[in-house]
Amino acid sequence: MKSIRTQVGIIGAGPAGLLLSHILHLQGIESIVLEKSSRNTVEAIIKAGVLEQGTVDLMNQIGAGDRMMKEGLAHEGIIMRFDGRDERIHFPELTGGKSVMIYAQHDVNKDLIKARLASGGDIRFEARDVSIYDLDSSTPKIRFRGKGDEPSKEADEVTEITCDFIAGCDGFHGVSRQAIPQEVIRIYERVYPFGWLGILSDTPPVNHELIYTNHERGFALCTMRSTTRSRYYLQVPADEDVSDWSDDRFWTELKRRIPPDAAATLQTGPSLEKSVAPLRSFVAEPLRHGRLFLAGDSAHIVPPTGAKGLNLAVADVRFLTEALAAFYKSGSSDQLDGYSDRCLARVWKAQRFSWWMTNLTHRFPEALPFERRAQAAELAYLAGSQAAQTALAENYVGLPLV
Ligand code: APR
Ligand code: PHB
Repeated sequence: MKSIRTQVGIIGAGPAGLLLSHILHLQGIESIVLEKSSRNTVEAIIKAGVLEQGTVDLMNQIGAGDRMMKEGLAHEGIIMRFDGRDERIHFPELTGGKSVMIYAQHDVNKDLIKARLASGGDIRFEARDVSIYDLDSSTPKIRFRGKGDEPSKEADEVTEITCDFIAGCDGFHGVSRQAIPQEVIRIYERVYPFGWLGILSDTPPVNHELIYTNHERGFALCTMRSTTRSRYYLQVPADEDVSDWSDDRFWTELKRRIPPDAAATLQTGPSLEKSVAPLRSFVAEPLRHGRLFLAGDSAHIVPPTGAKGLNLAVADVRFLTEALAAFYKSGSSDQLDGYSDRCLARVWKAQRFSWWMTNLTHRFPEALPFERRAQAAELAYLAGSQAAQTALAENYVGLPLV
């Protein structure tokens, strides 16, 4: 078995792992990133791309924001559609000038991989059988099979990385969270009784801003990846089979749920991708066990309605890099000890907002008549209250980091 050493072993090369590795590098801290998928797979992932101002600022600060600033779309508002009316939530007016950036997650991944490799980063793609050891020691270890650093080596070579710390950035289905003992970890979860059927098409977006619609047939969202590539979602039953949905069926249903003027101008086209994703709210506490620190989707999942997933991962990484930098600079573990609580304070506010936004915009199959009327009243209140719109806007653009 081959043995190597680094300061921080990072599992996962999604936004959390890539961002962590790059910011640590800028702080003079070494890391190795282990990613089970190929680089092409990581750079092709199709996921939401709404970046909070803080995320945009950080990408620019670390020198990975050039393409985002050229190709990203600045958005100053969203349209909430309900009860036959449209209500625009105007972010700058309600938040003292803040807005969001539409920029696809796979582009964030591409830009971070490019920046990290250009700065000499060590990212091991197609790393298999990743496992974690000695979390309670000061030298935790990660083992994996895959191409060693000499490509000629056997693909099945086992390598062991001895670290000071391990960062679990391997998403909801990763191995890191599983390394926290059952008697230690606490799980909080809400699985929603519906999913999102999403379609990607090379057609111009139906509207220049996102449209969230609460329709009697179910929720729909009109969003985009660029001015020539659109993304649309329909609420469907949680067990819906995507093979039951031809492109034509999708477009016909979407037109029934979105505003009539949008339906009349909607440009349809062949799907580049079509899939059903489940919706869940999920938090694992604590985000730290011994020398293991969870960041991003490995620790928490939000329903995509609030567009918080990527931004929460970024916030965790900010906190973790600050804590690790303090440790290596002064030997203090105070920020490492406070990492989990600091992340969770933000995570739970984003969980509450995403849960609230989902309850406000979706039709729940088992909703009581009272609940449906209360939902309609909340939407009407939102339409008529600057205070309600401010609350939505300040959460959507991203709460201040504390
Ligand atoms: N070994 C190595 N890598 C792994 C393993 C494993 N056992 N399991 C998962 N991974 C990799 C995945 O292939 C993926 O590239 O970890 C990465 C996790 O990335 P994400 O799932 O994107 O999670 P994160 O970086 O926290 O970003 C959160 O991305 O998934 C979206 O909606 C989510 O927007 C949110 C953001
Ligand atoms: C997306 O562009 O995929 C997207 C945007 C906003 C959301 C969810 C998804 O709330």
